[in-house]
Amino acid sequence: MKIVTRISELSHDVGTSIGLVPTMGGFHKGHLQLMKTAKEECDLVVASLFVNPTQFGEGEDFERYPRNLERDASLAEEVGVDVLFAPSPEEVYPRLGSVIHVPVVSKLWEGSHRPGHFEGVATVVCKLLNMVGPDVAYFGLKDLQQCLVVKRMVEDLNMPLTISLQPTVREEDGLAMSSRNAYLTHEERLLAPSVYRNLSECKQKLQVPDLTHEQAEGILHHAKTSLEDDGFRVDYFELIELETTKAVRNLSMQCALIAAARLGKTRLIDNVLL
Ligand code: PAJ
Repeated sequence: MKIVTRISELSHDVGTSIGLVPTMGGFHKGHLQLMKTAKEECDLVVASLFVNPTQFGEGEDFERYPRNLERDASLAEEVGVDVLFAPSPEEVYPRLGSVIHVPVVSKLWEGSHRPGHFEGVATVVCKLLNMVGPDVAYFGLKDLQQCLVVKRMVEDLNMPLTISLQPTVREEDGLAMSSRNAYLTHEERLLAPSVYRNLSECKQKLQVPDLTHEQAEGILHHAKTSLEDDGFRVDYFELIELETTKAVRNLSMQCALIAAARLGKTRLIDNVLL
């Protein structure tokens, strides 16, 4: 595996299909599964590792975000990554540059709780796609709204590649794998699977015939309060339709249950598709 820090060192071989897995490092099985899938489907796999400063808000965890290039490089190599692209902030942002705003799907939920977050994500993903030039880029459904934002950007801007969305990889107790799980204390780690448990229970309760708006409202309210009773501070626990990300109370469109909740110093996000 080659480790590359400069954009100019990325080569664009004609005739080989390139898969890109954009990451911020702190690799876990979720990241590694994306890389394995890319390896199965493409001739050459590039993983990018860049803790993107522009998608972190003030007071968020940019400084303490897990950074360990040596560990990550060895894990990436094990799953067959060909090139690990780990640029410096100066390489990615040589000056105050253009910013990408993706309307509608970036507005609510993570967008409103983390102002500027999706501009940071869309801009860096656009730059990474242009730097690497992949045929396919892989993203995890763990970050559902991010997936919707990236897909919309690629469609809106006619970017010539396929976005492949992959299922969420979970711990045995259901907790979605995340680099941020490293922040959890022992006690918090035991509580953390409640987010997924509540999402799953809620999904089951919502899938009854002739569900009324009032029933849906009650089911969502119950799940949210139950997380709060466990000590979570819930940013949102919602039923949304995927097309616009707007809250809904029926399942006539393609929907998802999405949640963001804080436990101590850790903010957990998760979702289930309906
Ligand atoms: P990061 O959080 O490192 O995640 C990199 C990729 O791994 C994302 O597509 C994310 O959705 C996926 N991923 C994370 N946890 C997962 C899990 N448990 N199961 C499956 N996939 C999972 O997301 C980012 O970085 C950044 O915002 C980035 C897109 C790299 C832009 O900076």
